[in-house]
Amino acid sequence: MTLELHTQRLRLTPLTGDDAQALFSYRRLPEVTRFQNFVPAGVADAEAFIASVQGRDLGASDQWCQLAVRLRETDELVGDVGVQRMSHGAKQAEIGFTVAPSHQRRGLAMEAVTALLGHLFGELDLHRVTASVDPENVGSCALLERLGMRREAHHVRSYWFRGAWVDDVVYAMLRTEWSNARP
Ligand SMILES: CC(C)(COP(=O)(O)OP(=O)(O)OC[C@H]1O[C@@H](n2cnc3c(N)ncnc32)[C@H](O)[C@@H]1OP(=O)(O)O)[C@@H](O)C(=O)NCCC(=O)NCCS
Repeated sequence: MTLELHTQRLRLTPLTGDDAQALFSYRRLPEVTRFQNFVPAGVADAEAFIASVQGRDLGASDQWCQLAVRLRETDELVGDVGVQRMSHGAKQAEIGFTVAPSHQRRGLAMEAVTALLGHLFGELDLHRVTASVDPENVGSCALLERLGMRREAHHVRSYWFRGAWVDDVVYAMLRTEWSNARP
């Protein structure tokens, strides 16, 4: 994936092998892994993860594409965002996001995901974007609501996660909603 998005403070670019140490340093933290499947045991896991997503095409369906979120000023990796297109041709995608705890609550996720949604609804002309979160993931739910996404489903004990059935909340936004909010 050669996509590159720019915001006031951030650059969203493909992850590279050089990001492994920085990715591991925040992706291993308990507050980051609490609601996520990917839990790297070491830098080698981060390297393998990056290698597995490298070169993926945002147009292809049913595979997660991952973008680095870097500070423009220093090039520091401060997080990552993911996109998975749903079945080919459906013009729908699911998103995910992570910001390193040392950089949270500075509006960086808001800035990165807003740019991502702009690209998905703009250049890629998608019809609908969703995000799936544990309702106990208060920060993510608040971010999605702040982005203007609708809490449209609450599935009860629908997701098997680390040995237990947990609830899953689906947030969604249509392109018309995105456009109407930005006349
Ligand atoms: C969710 C996450 C990406 C938010 O990143 P962030 O950069 O701190 O978010 P922002 O600073 O852009 O916050 C934007 C808004 O979201 C809401 N928000 C973000 N984190 C919040 C928290 N912990 N509690 C309550 N509201 C929160 C607020 O409304 C905030 O705006 P405000 O700070 O002006 O009040 C980050 O907490 C994270 O990486 N969490 C762990 C990974 C994770 O669970 N990812 C989702 C998996 S589905």
